[in-house]
Amino acid sequence: MGKLKLNINDVAPWVTKAEVNALDVVASMANKALHEGTLAGSDFLGWVNLPSSITELEIEEIEKASIQLRTLCDVVVVIGIGGSYLGAKAVIDSLSNTFDWLQTKRENPVIVYAGNNISEDYLHELTEYLDGKSFGIINISKSGTTTEPALSFRILKNKLEEQVGKVESKKRIVAITDASKGALRTLAMQEGYKTFVIPDNVGGRYSVLTPVGLLPIAVAGINIRLLLQGALEIEKETDQTTPFKDNLAAIYAVTRNELYKKGKKIEILANFHPKLQYFAEWWKQLFGESEGKEGKGIFNAAVNFTTDLHSMGQWIQEGERTIFETTISVDTPNQKLTIPHDDANLDGLNFLEGKRVDEVNKMAELGTRIAHVDGGVPNIVISIPELSPYYVGQLIYFFEKACGISGYILGVNPFDQPGVEAYKANMFALLEKPGFEKETEELKKRI
Ligand code: PA5
Repeated sequence: MGKLKLNINDVAPWVTKAEVNALDVVASMANKALHEGTLAGSDFLGWVNLPSSITELEIEEIEKASIQLRTLCDVVVVIGIGGSYLGAKAVIDSLSNTFDWLQTKRENPVIVYAGNNISEDYLHELTEYLDGKSFGIINISKSGTTTEPALSFRILKNKLEEQVGKVESKKRIVAITDASKGALRTLAMQEGYKTFVIPDNVGGRYSVLTPVGLLPIAVAGINIRLLLQGALEIEKETDQTTPFKDNLAAIYAVTRNELYKKGKKIEILANFHPKLQYFAEWWKQLFGESEGKEGKGIFNAAVNFTTDLHSMGQWIQEGERTIFETTISVDTPNQKLTIPHDDANLDGLNFLEGKRVDEVNKMAELGTRIAHVDGGVPNIVISIPELSPYYVGQLIYFFEKACGISGYILGVNPFDQPGVEAYKANMFALLEKPGFEKETEELKKRI
């Protein structure tokens, strides 16, 4: 079986291997702290052992709930924001047929999302789409009080009850939230919904391997056991007994921190597969929310190639030299398509005749990497053998572990997100929510 690999050859001359290796003790101590809970955020380290600690019973319960939703529903709406939906969407998009949702004859329910925005048009169009469809809802909120999902759930619950009645709708709604706190827990208990618990010690952006991610992923028809096995493999390979030289997550964490110190303040995650677009969104949240604090932190951006080579490619090649690039590379595609012969050859492409499309993509990938390195952009490559549940599971745990280590090296608490509260407080004050009277008055003077 192949493996996730890391290649940092193309960060030289900005950061040398010797400079990376010099930080082995620092990185190993950061990793140890994640396992022993000795640094900031130690209440939120439940994710470290998730792949090895999930029980057969827990997996079976998730699978059972997924079968119920798959049996009753043609469409399942996953309600959640940030860590409460990005992991599920990242995995589902990475592993599903791109055009499956457009097929009329389908094996799996269509998965759509809500609660990740407050757009009236979006919600209206979603309710229109659900009209007359057999649908269900997975409502996810750790706090149980986040406005975006709560608002969407109110509207969609209403829609579902109108469509199938209160009794039937209870069979089609699953709530994933805190074990005892929050409005969603109260509501779920009162209505008698099936529920799953988000463990107290797992923050939203590290929760994809809990029911938060696993239930929607299972509903989409993806094998969650293989996903967990892949994650487990990397859990073992990055544990605190692993020497730095073999701990790929630690090497990646050190390399990006060294690049940051040398003025490379922006990391762009590049992929050459449209299916990975939301994997990059998940990654952006993981690193951005974990490290961007106290006036520090790499800015995380993402690009989808070759698409974005025709837009942001110009900036990457010749703009301000403050970026480095991390490419997720997939060795072998799941499908096979060769380029046909054309007698007229008016497009001049007969030189590619008989080649697989992926050979062209791979040369675009290699050509891009060389061009960007030549243009002053250091490049890190993380490669997996194929896009399968097992290797996506590896990628998930790899990035989670790297993020924890990286945050500790940077000297921040990678498990809080105090900055997220600022907009919420203003929004509540502007909406004149009871309890925010003083803030309302102060804001009104400013506008
Ligand atoms: O990573 C995080 O903690 C956040 O992105 C949360 O997941 C997000 O704010 C949603 O919070 P909640 O699940 O409490 O509704």
